[in-house]
Amino acid sequence: LVLILDFGSQYTHLITRRIRALSVFSLCISGTSSLSSITSLNPKVVILSGGPHSVHSDDSPSFPDGFVDWALSNGVFVLGICYGLQLIVQRLGGEVRMGKKQEYGRMEIEVVKSCGIFGYKDVGDNQVVWMSHGDEAARLPVGFEVVARSEQGAVAAVEDINRRFYGLQYHPEVTHSPEGMETLRYFLFNVCGVNAGWKMEDVMDEELKVINNTVAPDDHVICALSGGVDSTVAATLVHKAIGDRLHCIFVDNGLLRYKERERVMETFKSDLHLPVTCVNASDQFLSKLKGVVDPEMKRKIIGKEFIFIFDAFAQELEQKLKKKPAFLVQGTLYPDVIESCPPPGSGRTHSHTIKSHHNVGGLPKDMKLKLIEPLKLLFKDEVRELGKILKVPEGFLKRHPFPGPGLAVRVLGDVTEGNALDIVRQVDEIFIQSIKDAGIYDSIWQAFAVFLPIKSVGVQGDQRTHSYVVTLRAVTSQDGMTADWYCFENSFLKDVSQKICNNVRGVNRVTLDITSKPPSTIEWE
Ligand code: XMP
Repeated sequence: LVLILDFGSQYTHLITRRIRALSVFSLCISGTSSLSSITSLNPKVVILSGGPHSVHSDDSPSFPDGFVDWALSNGVFVLGICYGLQLIVQRLGGEVRMGKKQEYGRMEIEVVKSCGIFGYKDVGDNQVVWMSHGDEAARLPVGFEVVARSEQGAVAAVEDINRRFYGLQYHPEVTHSPEGMETLRYFLFNVCGVNAGWKMEDVMDEELKVINNTVAPDDHVICALSGGVDSTVAATLVHKAIGDRLHCIFVDNGLLRYKERERVMETFKSDLHLPVTCVNASDQFLSKLKGVVDPEMKRKIIGKEFIFIFDAFAQELEQKLKKKPAFLVQGTLYPDVIESCPPPGSGRTHSHTIKSHHNVGGLPKDMKLKLIEPLKLLFKDEVRELGKILKVPEGFLKRHPFPGPGLAVRVLGDVTEGNALDIVRQVDEIFIQSIKDAGIYDSIWQAFAVFLPIKSVGVQGDQRTHSYVVTLRAVTSQDGMTADWYCFENSFLKDVSQKICNNVRGVNRVTLDITSKPPSTIEWE
């Protein structure tokens, strides 16, 4: 195991992912974790991440007392990156000072010693790296040597081979450091002697074992399927482990996309053989949403109604089985786990603070169900890989994300107004189908249509019309936290607009959203 101690850098997840990409299992925990939580994981290598602090500020986070002695007496290799290097220097008796010149962005460094972490380089070799620091190592602890310097003469890499402590002042994990991956590979395999061999098949086998050890032979498990990748892969995995003692529910809340219920139920049943109860609760949701225009209120109503239905499902199941279901499956992913406990002072908060997101996660607390979260150590692309092994159809695994409150946040204002839901469904279907036909679906993070509750004047078939306006939104993004609007070809936009106006009754104007996030959010509500 390679353990990453997170000191708040925006790149920390990337270190974890880069190492996993080298087929080495890596985990990330808060940099201020206790010594026992670090030692209980028994890592062979510990990487100290970067972070926004100066080691001199009062609230600067650091590894726990006893960490250095533990690493030394257990033969653990320690690599500090940026702030991590400065922590090593300071805590081992050297000195860190504000640099004469700050170094931000692309920079050249030169190897001054061909040994240890740069054992595969010659003295005098240059490489471009990504720097982002104000402080620098001014005096090294006894036993440490400089192995690379920046073009400004600042310390860029240090090591104490005998004590197995290493430090890089730059960020090898970002693509702006083109040789960074090579350096990490050399460090892990040649310097630390780590073995590659972490495979998704092994992850699956391990998770199946854990599920079987957790769920007793007469226990039953429930799962709410949203139609998204995470809950589907989680349910498929649990189903593989315990078969039909898994009971899934899929709720049609009347806010789904065009033919969504039919499409996902077909995949659940025919492709994945999941035991799913489909509840059509459209009327129930829509009657509660009638007249509601406040976006947060809409979300709350939808969340409450969902819990109500889920509760009824669990009670019915209990009566049928004559036994309470004991577990609940959730498709929690690793970024959610890391984001929910960021290191103090990192400035990072849980990702979902701008809108009160609730998806199938917001379930009754008094049900006393124990959680099974088989994906909680995986990143999204790893979940897709696992889904592939579990034979979840490829098209399904590549679906764009869809928000829990569904079309309620894509129809501005009252969702029950006129035929707004029908209009947005038809427009969305034409837009998405055109995107698929153009072969650009996989280059887009999310694309959808939004219904605007305003009418404009038009002319169709020699008739003056007074009809609705819709807008199209498509964005690229890494994780949904920030996003850029997608640049379509003009000819594509021309075709789509024409198709929409020709085929969707009640629409005479199509607009395009050309705002990034920030300042906008991806959804319109
Ligand atoms: P925003 O609109 O906040 O969206 O930029 C970021 C990502 O989150 C999705 N989203 C939601 N997902 N419940 C969800 O499960 C919600 O209430 C919700 N609101 C937004 C959005 O689709 C995008 O992928």
